[in-house]
Amino acid sequence: MSERLHVFLTGASAGIGLEIAKRLTADGHEVWGTSRDAGRLPRLDRFHAVALDLNRTESIRAAVDQVRREAGHIDVLINNAGAGVYAPLEALAEKEMAQQFQLLVFGPMELVRFFLPEMRRRQNGLILNVASLAARFPIPFLGAYSASKAALSSLTECLRLELAHTPVRVVDLQPGDFNTPFHEGTRRLTCDFEKDYEPALTTVWKTIDRNMAAAPHPRRVADMVADLVGKANPAPVVAVGNLFQARIAPLLMRLGPRRWVQWGIRAFYGI
Ligand SMILES: NC(=O)c1ccc[n+]([C@@H]2O[C@H](COP(=O)([O-])OP(=O)(O)OC[C@H]3O[C@@H](n4cnc5c(N)ncnc54)[C@H](OP(=O)(O)O)[C@@H]3O)[C@@H](O)[C@H]2O)c1
Repeated sequence: MSERLHVFLTGASAGIGLEIAKRLTADGHEVWGTSRDAGRLPRLDRFHAVALDLNRTESIRAAVDQVRREAGHIDVLINNAGAGVYAPLEALAEKEMAQQFQLLVFGPMELVRFFLPEMRRRQNGLILNVASLAARFPIPFLGAYSASKAALSSLTECLRLELAHTPVRVVDLQPGDFNTPFHEGTRRLTCDFEKDYEPALTTVWKTIDRNMAAAPHPRRVADMVADLVGKANPAPVVAVGNLFQARIAPLLMRLGPRRWVQWGIRAFYGI
């Protein structure tokens, strides 16, 4: 596409976000990309580093101010940053749960609230929320993460419905497993009743580790994003991943009773 877009991309220092940054800048777009530590961000033509910690309200405001000052306006908002907390749900204190929702739901929605009014005024814009297939297939011991992603997907769909009469486009992007540092970054909490959840607690952790190591390169998500930013009427929900995760499993889920889905999830994680 020939138009040079202004993109705000959270979580551009690693994994999927880093690949999106590389691809969109290579396509000629201007990308303002974030990390909690701006020193971790790539040095690329047309890439502008922004410090952002989604768990800190003042950091969100400072990042938005910087982007407004430097970019003037934003055409594409990509809420991509994320991280998980691994533990049995009964070990997750309210604070941990709230932090997951702040990072994966409240922070991204605050960014939507900052950029949407101008998109509506300019009669142009794309909001791309990176949720996860975990929104539809919750991952055991990543309960707060899965629930946050489901909430983000639901809010994204509401946004799309509410903005249907405007030219602002909204997409719920749901990746399956990709080979990124996500699992290394997942915080594994300890609790004194861990043994009551064994061997499942260890088995699922190892399965995720193995699956992510064997998963496709995140470049594939970046290619999908590059395609989406050029579309006048993108699909509301876009699954991206290997054939089983992105196509076959969602189809089976639509056709089968939830009990089968639960059985499938347990079989997938070996518990
Ligand atoms: N990889 C997968 O298999 C997969 C599957 C489904 C969905 N996803 C989703 O895709 C998105 C990207 O994941 P990824 O695999 O690329 O993960 P990643 O490689 O671990 O990268 C995560 C990014 O999020 C940023 N981040 C983490 N905590 C943050 C915070 N508190 N405030 C602001 N930024 C923060 C990190 O930046 P700094 O650490 O530099 O601050 C980093 O740039 C996430 O939303 C994830 O849930 C990933």
